Amino acid sequence: MKAAVITSFGDPSVLRVAEAPQPTPGRAQVLVRVHAAGVNPAEILARAGAFRLRAPAIIGFEFAGVVEGVGPGVDESLVGERVAGWPDSATQGSYAEYTVSSNYATIPDGVSFEQAAATVIGADNAARALGLLNLHPGDTLVVTGASGALGSAAVQFARHRGVTVIGVAGTSNADFVESLGAIPVAHGPGLVARIRAAAPDGVDAALDTAGKGLLPALIEVLGSPERVVTLADRDAAKHDVAFSPGGSGNRDHRPVQEALDLIAAGAWTARVGRSFPLAKAADAHRLVATGHTHGKVIILP
Ligand SMILES: NC(=O)c1ccc[n+]([C@@H]2O[C@H](COP(=O)([O-])OP(=O)(O)OC[C@H]3O[C@@H](n4cnc5c(N)ncnc54)[C@H](OP(=O)(O)O)[C@@H]3O)[C@@H](O)[C@H]2O)c1
Repeated sequence: MKAAVITSFGDPSVLRVAEAPQPTPGRAQVLVRVHAAGVNPAEILARAGAFRLRAPAIIGFEFAGVVEGVGPGVDESLVGERVAGWPDSATQGSYAEYTVSSNYATIPDGVSFEQAAATVIGADNAARALGLLNLHPGDTLVVTGASGALGSAAVQFARHRGVTVIGVAGTSNADFVESLGAIPVAHGPGLVARIRAAAPDGVDAALDTAGKGLLPALIEVLGSPERVVTLADRDAAKHDVAFSPGGSGNRDHRPVQEALDLIAAGAWTARVGRSFPLAKAADAHRLVATGHTHGKVIILP
């Protein structure tokens, strides 16, 4: 099969299309023909050498595609099913024609592979982090990175649960954030005053998905770090803020299924940005590294 194979870690140019062995599904796994792979900030780090992955490596931590085979213990009737989820291995990932997985949701009719690939990591992480905040209908929540994959999922889950959301994002994304049902607030100097003006009755909780040094501002708005959670700021402990780590042990396909079903019902937006063929995976990484993608960047293997 064709894949973007990393033989040594480094700058985006290490992502080179090559022939690689097609994986074989093991117990509980399905073999997936990948139609779309979401590109994530964590893959930028992985490609550069973080996470101590072994070369040769095929990265890509979320996929959408079609089941083409099943391993022992999996019902044959799954063959032909459209699914979106996580590859089981960090080095047998989705920047490839095929991957193997045991953790996925079903893609409903009317939802594209690109939309599905854009939903997996955002919905899972947003739902898990929101669960830590114990929100109730009528509460007011600040979400930073509200225009991004995780942030836009957090805004939508919170809105569906009756929570008022202040969505912090760039000014060029204000209309998008508003379309998700949030009150848009621009990031940058003066953030605390802008949040207070947008929420005159106060704020109950904050979820940081931007990871751009915004925790002190969120703590100032809330008065304490107690009801602040971050998915992205590595300085969380320094500020006594809870960091919600994702990872292979705590991935949950149920919020992904919920979001995919809501897309099919016209009640959820998975914003797809630019798509790149496998041969242009390096350009996809360069775009994600800017931090301002205006929609999920997708690789089409
Ligand atoms: N905890 C976990 O397990 C986990 C899992 C997945 C991802 N993550 C992390 O979560 C973060 C977001 O991932 P993503 O896929 O949602 O990224 P994304 O789609 O690229 O979104 C990035 C967001 O950050 C905002 N942003 C960029 N620069 C900013 C700045 N200087 N100040 C304030 N906001 C800024 C962007 O706003 P504008 O473009 O509107 O300016 C956008 O809303 C990444 O750091 C990623 O590594 C963590």
